[in-house]
Amino acid sequence: MTNKSIVTSEYKKKIKILKKHNTSYFSDDNPKITDAEYDKLKLEISYLEAKHPYLKRIFQKSNVVGAPPSNQFKKIKHLSPMLSLSNAFNKEDVEDFLKKTNNFLNLNEKNIEIFTEPKIDGISATLIYEKGVLVKGLSRGDGITGEDILENLKTIKEIPKKINSSNIPNLLEIRCEIYIGKKDFFKIQDNFANPRNAAGGSLRQKDPNETAKIPLKYFAYGFGSVEPMNFKKQSEFLKKISEWGFSTNSISELVKGVDELELQHKKIDSLRSSLDYDIDGLVLKINDLNLQKRLGNTSNSPRWAVAYKFSAEKAFTKIKDIVIQVGRTGAITPVAKVDPVNVGGVVVSNATLHNEDEIQRKDIRIGDTISIQRAGDVIPQVVSVDISKRNKKSFKFIFPTKCLCGALTKKEYSKTTKKLDSVRRCIKGFECKYIAKERLKHIVSKEALNIDGLGKKVIEKFWNMKIISEPADIFKLNYNDIKKLDGWGELSIKNLQKAINNAKKINLSKFIFSIGVRHIGQENAKILAGFFLSIKNFNNLLKKEKRKELLESLSELDGIGETQVQSIESFFSKEINKKITQNLINQLEIQNYVSQNKDGKFSNKKLMFTGGFNNMSRSEAKSIAERNGGKVLGSISKKLDYLIVGDSKPTKRKIDQAKSLKIKIVTEKDWNKILNS
Ligand code: IVH
Repeated sequence: MTNKSIVTSEYKKKIKILKKHNTSYFSDDNPKITDAEYDKLKLEISYLEAKHPYLKRIFQKSNVVGAPPSNQFKKIKHLSPMLSLSNAFNKEDVEDFLKKTNNFLNLNEKNIEIFTEPKIDGISATLIYEKGVLVKGLSRGDGITGEDILENLKTIKEIPKKINSSNIPNLLEIRCEIYIGKKDFFKIQDNFANPRNAAGGSLRQKDPNETAKIPLKYFAYGFGSVEPMNFKKQSEFLKKISEWGFSTNSISELVKGVDELELQHKKIDSLRSSLDYDIDGLVLKINDLNLQKRLGNTSNSPRWAVAYKFSAEKAFTKIKDIVIQVGRTGAITPVAKVDPVNVGGVVVSNATLHNEDEIQRKDIRIGDTISIQRAGDVIPQVVSVDISKRNKKSFKFIFPTKCLCGALTKKEYSKTTKKLDSVRRCIKGFECKYIAKERLKHIVSKEALNIDGLGKKVIEKFWNMKIISEPADIFKLNYNDIKKLDGWGELSIKNLQKAINNAKKINLSKFIFSIGVRHIGQENAKILAGFFLSIKNFNNLLKKEKRKELLESLSELDGIGETQVQSIESFFSKEINKKITQNLINQLEIQNYVSQNKDGKFSNKKLMFTGGFNNMSRSEAKSIAERNGGKVLGSISKKLDYLIVGDSKPTKRKIDQAKSLKIKIVTEKDWNKILNS
């Protein structure tokens, strides 16, 4: 080999390594080497480029951000949670959103004012102004706690550092989306998968001078905490903050009714390619802020808004194979392995086929030419089969009746729909290693233990290497062994150790959600935590002699139905689940449930509703009771403090039962009086 080819090959190797680390930093947010090691690598490359002019100078031309994104930002609790949005994909979903809104508010208003804004595909951040001065800037983090990225945000020219106006609230929290313009992205795209990743990488620089190198922009779209709150409408809020110097989006519009919404959705979709920023839908917001407040939130998303996604992008490809995947609840999902195809900028090689019935209905076969679609962040789906292109000799797909673990699968009978479930499930639980692995992935996820650096891929690897077999193992890792593995350096080990340590302290409701009992989502986990209050009480579920009585009490809780009770019973009647749960409890410091509103009007009180109310729906009444510290029960028992009786068709039997148990009866008039007091 000539000297020139040795240098070129050495150079290419280093560029390859740099690119790999860039991906770990920028896309996976999981640096694998220290800043010093990274700097050394960069230095070596630029040295080679300077010394050997024949090299392609990839590095010099590429304008790579100077340093890896950091994980070392200070964590700060958000003043109010940063939620996400639920999605709508078609007109029916939008109608459903409007109907639910009306039902909750006990209204019948077809033309409720909706403010529509493009959904910017960037990175969310929140800016806190005290007396008009920017004092804090946080990333979203897990929605409850964010990271202090103030100095980096300050490098964005258009973000006001001080608001020069009178009459501004003492406390003003502005929610915004940070992005890179498409044209600017074009100049730096070599290093990033998409503009969103580039914006994320830039925002997470340790040195703000590095952030400043990449041209970030932003749109302000909402607020967190505001005191005093003087705005009445979303449209009014945006107009005002735009006067104060914030960048707001100009293609937002106020519309009424589903037909106007459809038109606006089409209009913005058609503008999409001409905009200098990526958008992936239209956000529909109830314009009246008082109605927004009444609607409130579910665990994850506001009830007053929805993201109306743009229609899915489609492409044609061929099915190479159909395999099955096992989910954490044992659900067997068929997946089509397809010839890789570009669907709206993303290369897709897997698409879900949902379930056995779907395959039969569409008669999907291996070798078929199919149309697939990808909408937003959901898994690509197989839409249809082009039968004309089918090989005459192909066979119908026979759905396997066994799980990947070898155990039998079955379709459950649903008491509610009186039908067999269309999903097949593995009859095993934790004993099925595929289910166990998925449960581990669930447990480390953002909504559960939220362990940075221990994502799905790492779990997969650690599982295969038998480093982690059950949740408790996460807390007993031997870091010296991990250090020997490919891709793990001092820094990533240190970060992992820290993240795992932080995860030990967990509140009761998150813990309950983490265990992954089927039908116990975040909302139900909260209800259960409110009932058990401490891990000590929760632990009684593991004891056979106490479980029956507990389950009876659980069924009295509003929101917990027969399905949930049965699922809890079946989970805790299995020895292996009990053992694994107990092992996990032993590793954690589980905090007692603290009611958010200890001083609320109904603090520590148990309420039940019967009958309809004139000025609010049952759901709103329930949410008001909970916001004020009360617990809502679904049936009458001695434990009940109040039976709230709405004027419209209350159940007489319930009133009589309550009277005989000497439970206080509150009429609709009194209820309104209490709320206004
Ligand atoms: S309103 C969820 N408006 O979308 C609280 N969000 O999935 C209300 N986003 O984290 C959000 N453009 O970062 C809202 N015009 C817009 C938006 C927008 C982009 C992002 C935001 C949020 C995510 C929700």
